[in-house]
Amino acid sequence: MSTPVSIQIEDGIAVITIDSPPVNAISAAIRRGLLAASEQLATDTSVKGVVLLCAGRTFMAGADISEFGGFMPPPELRNVLTVFESLPQPIVVALHGTALGGGVEVALAGHYRIADKGAKLGFPEVTLGIVPGAVGTQRLPRLIGAENALKMFLDGKAVGAEEAKALGLIDEVVEGDLRTAAVDYTKKLLAAGKGPRRVRDLQVAPLSEERISELRAQARKQHKGVITPELDILAVRASWELPFEQGLALERAISDGSLATPESKAMRHLFFAEREVAEVPGISKADAPRDVKRIGIIGSGTMGGGIAMAFANAGIHATLIDIDQAALERGLATVRKNYDASVKRGRMTAADVEQRMSLIVGSTSYDSLKDADLVIEAVFEDMGLKKKIFAELDRVCKPGAILATNTSTLDINLIAAATKRPQDVLGLHFFSPANVMRLLEIVRTDTTANDVVATAFALAKKIRKIGVLSKVCFGFIGNRMMDPYAREAQRMVLEGATPAQVDSALEGFGMAMGILAVFDMAGVDVGVKVRAANPDKGSPDPTFYRADQVLYGQGWLGQKSGKGYYKYEAGSRERHPHEEALKLLAEEAQKLGVARRSDISAQEVLERCIYSMINEGARILEEGVALRPGDIDVVYTSGYGFARWRGGPMFYADQIGLDTVLAGIQKYGKRFNAVDWTPAPLLVKLAAEGSSFTAWAAARAKSAS
Ligand code: CAA
Repeated sequence: MSTPVSIQIEDGIAVITIDSPPVNAISAAIRRGLLAASEQLATDTSVKGVVLLCAGRTFMAGADISEFGGFMPPPELRNVLTVFESLPQPIVVALHGTALGGGVEVALAGHYRIADKGAKLGFPEVTLGIVPGAVGTQRLPRLIGAENALKMFLDGKAVGAEEAKALGLIDEVVEGDLRTAAVDYTKKLLAAGKGPRRVRDLQVAPLSEERISELRAQARKQHKGVITPELDILAVRASWELPFEQGLALERAISDGSLATPESKAMRHLFFAEREVAEVPGISKADAPRDVKRIGIIGSGTMGGGIAMAFANAGIHATLIDIDQAALERGLATVRKNYDASVKRGRMTAADVEQRMSLIVGSTSYDSLKDADLVIEAVFEDMGLKKKIFAELDRVCKPGAILATNTSTLDINLIAAATKRPQDVLGLHFFSPANVMRLLEIVRTDTTANDVVATAFALAKKIRKIGVLSKVCFGFIGNRMMDPYAREAQRMVLEGATPAQVDSALEGFGMAMGILAVFDMAGVDVGVKVRAANPDKGSPDPTFYRADQVLYGQGWLGQKSGKGYYKYEAGSRERHPHEEALKLLAEEAQKLGVARRSDISAQEVLERCIYSMINEGARILEEGVALRPGDIDVVYTSGYGFARWRGGPMFYADQIGLDTVLAGIQKYGKRFNAVDWTPAPLLVKLAAEGSSFTAWAAARAKSAS
């Protein structure tokens, strides 16, 4: 069997090369190979110096995450590194690409470190709910100090080569051929009589309790709801409180324990789900993405402007079209204002703003789109208007140009039929603010061509978004599942729960914002208009989306009018009770004969909101609207503020058991409107079999392959 670890010895210098595409993730084979290489070199007196480097696009991007959670074949990386670090010859580790997690831990066991000038080094484990487990928590503080080490673990972001040098994490930044640089560096060390320099022999100055508290507070804000930062602090503390060997043992217990937490399982699930979304059955390499260099956007409102910014941020030209010069100027001024706000926050420079604004041009003529490779329509939700726009785009755009709509509710099959190129039409559903939100729903019609779908995924990656495929249906994946979720939240308000009670239960569960606060932020009128435009998507139950109607009737549209589910002081987003609204909602409940209750618990809020959302998710899977349960989880965690540490609604359902979800749905079905609480057939089937969404998806993938 070929090994990913090889040794070449030349002029007394052994070069260990790790070659395991795509990212040299530290698998069992690499661990075995590195151990064997270390044992061989330990007794080879002809070898005077050792270099370790990686082939391919990057140094090791960490432990092989796919091994976590199951049996991890020996040897353990931490033990391999003890042997590696003990080598009698000086070891130079040469880094390039993205050295992450276990990769940096390998480098820390070397005696000297050099890095290509484009290299990045970091510990992203906190984003996976893991504490580094290959002695990083003991070696890094010894090398760069406890505070800098703890910051790197808690932050999770990688630092560039120059910064790594300033921190003392690497000794030298190099350019050109890395292998040559590493061998030359080793020769220089030998010539200067330098030998091994082991990090484990260094001492750590303790970090003050006050500073620890400050870093803890910051980490709690950055990683809400997760325990990993606390565990990181515990492990790093051992670096000065305990001798190296004992610190190593403590880190082992903490790191292994972190792997077993539900939050780590959830975040690792998302790591792979976010990479799997781009795999679309039936689309192969032969469906090469079309070249997209120039974008057209119809509508320069909030959405159109945000979309233009998303493209300009990635260096792509965007032409914004609006009906008249005044509207255009307003749109462009808003774009500039948003960029200026980023400058104020120190996120970009004034020069960056000019460069990005130069990529966005305005026009009032569709003829300006004749060279566009892709046009995205982002006007308000009106089928007649959209059909007209698409017919016009079909006329002016060159053959092969892709025509997309940002609609969130309308039937894109009908929009495509307004053109003579339905194969080139699809939905690109951005989320507001479009320049910030990571999610992009890619909506395929009955006729969208494979290469158009492939182009959309490639483009999503280019503009640093996560594309998730959906079929056409009312609300696609995200908004369709939000429908029952919001329905129940509004009903509970009629039944006597306060908006704060509903939202705090949801936020306590891990939603970034309670749904009623979301309505206030987006505008209560937005939901009301969507419902009015889609009367066939209602319910015979008079309580259905009734709370929104009550507020809308009073002109209480949320934050923009200072009143909605909550009351707001001018210029503030802080929520205050809106007594008038509560009174009116109570009167409405009485009119509708809704029994008022004072016993709505946080548990009831969660069951009614989250279980009904999961039930809709099961239908979406069964209908093939979403390809996999993981795709739904990605939609919810990247676009709807569902806590990553819960893994998304479908993963959460699997964790609590589908029988629990079904029992909840049946319970509320008996108590309330049975039509709204009809369990999805797939949920009933899987619950009866004692199965899960994950197992169902795996079985389907297996039978398809
Ligand atoms: N383990 C297993 N597979 C990995 C991996 C890892 N650490 N890192 C990347 N991959 C896989 C991806 O799943 C993907 O596989 P498919 O092609 O089959 O989908 C492939 O490698 C390429 O990855 P990306 O699509 O993400 O490629 P990219 O160029 O956009 O990004 C990267 C490359 C920056 C390295 C990114 O993959 C990444 O951030 N990886 C995770 C790094 C990480 O979290 N490391 C810490 C691991 S935990 C640890 O190390 C604990 C410890 O203490 C021992």
